[in-house]
Parts: sequence; C-alpha cells; structure tokens
Amino acid sequence: MPVDSGSDTAATLLAWYDRHARRLPWRAERGATSDPYRVWLSEVMLQQTTVAAVKAYFEKFTRAWPTVEALAAAEEADVMSAWAGLGYYARARNLIACARAVANAGGLFPDTEDALRTLPGIGRYTAAAIAAIAFDRRAVVIDANVERVVARLFAVEQSLPAARPTIERLTDTITPAARSGDFAQAMMDLGATICTPRSPACAICPLSDDCAARATGAPETYPRKAAKAARPVRRGTMFWLESDGAVLLVRRPASGLLGGMRALPTGPWGENDPGLADAPADAAWREVGSGRHVFTHFALDYRVMAARSAVRSNSGEWWPIDALDAAGLPTLFAHAARLAVPEEA
Ligand code: ADE
Repeated sequence: MPVDSGSDTAATLLAWYDRHARRLPWRAERGATSDPYRVWLSEVMLQQTTVAAVKAYFEKFTRAWPTVEALAAAEEADVMSAWAGLGYYARARNLIACARAVANAGGLFPDTEDALRTLPGIGRYTAAAIAAIAFDRRAVVIDANVERVVARLFAVEQSLPAARPTIERLTDTITPAARSGDFAQAMMDLGATICTPRSPACAICPLSDDCAARATGAPETYPRKAAKAARPVRRGTMFWLESDGAVLLVRRPASGLLGGMRALPTGPWGENDPGLADAPADAAWREVGSGRHVFTHFALDYRVMAARSAVRSNSGEWWPIDALDAAGLPTLFAHAARLAVPEEA
C-alpha cells in the first residue's frame, strides 16, 4: 500500500502544477484525456533528451505519423531518417518494433505497467510514465529530475547510483493515489524550472518549507554523487568520397553504436587512429578537418579525409551532395560532412 504521509507534499505540488504546468505539445489540456500514442512517443523521445530538443521532433513525427497504425506502416528507413539528430538510435529501432507490436495487437496500448513493459523499448521508467500519464494509474515515475527533487526534499546522504532504491521508496511515499501522472509531470517541471542542478530557485519553490536539503543551507549539493571515472577518448577517421556531385554513404550495421543509420564510411574507433587503412577507395586523400564528438561512454576525436573519385563503386549509396540534409545523418556525421562541404559551398 502506498504510504499516504506525503499527501501534503502532493497536494501542494499539484496546486502549483495547476497554475504553472509547462504547456508542451504532448500534454493534453487540463481535463482532457491524453492520447496514449502521443504520451508513449514523447516519453521515448524524452529518454536522455531535453524537452527543448524533443519538441520539434515530436511535431514532425506526429505530423508524418498521427497514429500508432501510421507509424507501424512506415518505412523503417524513413523513421530512422526522421530520428536523425536525436541520438540513441536504438530508441528509434525499438520505436518501430513497438508501434508494429501495438498495431498488430489491435492498435491499443496496454494500460498497465506490467503489460507495457513487455513491449520493445519500454522499460521501468517509460512503463510507469505511460501508465500514470495516459491511463491515470498510480505509478512511481522517476527520471533524473524527479531523482534530484526527491534527493533534496529528503536530503538523501547516500550517493547516486547506490541511492536509487532509497529514492524510489521515498518517491513512493509522496506519490498520490489520484493524479499520479500530473504529480510525476509536476515533479519533472519543478526539477526542470526551479529545482535545477546548479542553482535551485528555492525562494519560489512551492516545496521549500518541506525541503530538508534547503534546511542544510546547501541544497545544490544534493543529490550526492559517486566520483565519475573520466570518459575515455577514442580516435578514428571518416571518409568523404565525392564523385560527380554525390558522396558515398554507407548504412551502419543494425546492432551497435548508431546502428542502422546512414553514415560516412569510417574505420574502427580505438586508442589509435588507423588513418587511411580503412579508406573506401584508393585515392588522393587530404585532411579537411577534425573534431570531437562526445558520446555517453567515450569521446571520439576524429579526422575527416576527403577525395574525389572518377568511378562510383557500388559498395554503398551515392547521395547527391546538395540534398545531404535529407539523408538523415546522425549529428556526428552531419558535422563531419560540414567540414568537407563548408556551409556557403
Ligand atoms: N521528461 C520526461 N517526460 C516528461 C514529461 N512528460 N513532461 C516534462 N518533462 C518530461
């Protein structure tokens, strides 16, 4: 049974949310029911990605594919291209698989956390968020914003990630039986706009009277965090091979980093840059630039080598350079391409 001792916190927060909720494209107006398809799509996009970055993608997807059936019927390559730039591309592959599973089962999303979790790409967080927001079920929804708010409210001294079970238990104690979807989104909005990581605006926070971290005088020092290992650096080379107004693109293997996405040809990324060893053609390669791209688990220092080729090999796709924007290149390769073809060209 949920402990109800937190109901004051929930009531205070919900009253604040009724006045200050952010208006976001996937949120139903007050009193209207949410469309589970839009809730699901937004929650998948919002995993690891900011609200600001997601908005335009959400609008683009719902315009192109207004229902789960429409998305299920889409060409996989079109969905992957539309996702380009959002990152974490396994989400896009799972998105298609999930849409197809739901469409095949009659087009309705399941309405419980357990059933939602059987679908591709729907883990603990997403199942709880959809159950609460779309189906008004009581669920304990914890993302990074909620984690921070709760760690501060209770001044949790344990550091992350070890503190997660404690934070989950504490979140459970303040989650109300009714409106738990609004409660979850209120916690997220509070975390995004007031209880921010570096300089929380405690003076305008509706929960400041109850906040144990505020009482310590240093709320910004919560949540406590275990020291992070430094991010390793990998090195590699990308190849821009041009022939008669087109550039050679390849499709990355379905599994692995940036899996299934269009890309510039590249050798492996490792401790040492293998240079021209994996060049897609014997040609007069010249370096046109270099850059760094930061992934979650490593940073990549890359060089871009460019060459022209008289013949077009049939090892990939020759893509018209003046239509490169439509290729759906992940950000890393879009930046690398810009080094080969400066904007004004
Ligand atoms: N982050 C993840 N889901 C969200 C939501 N529904 N509203 C605001 N921020 C979010």
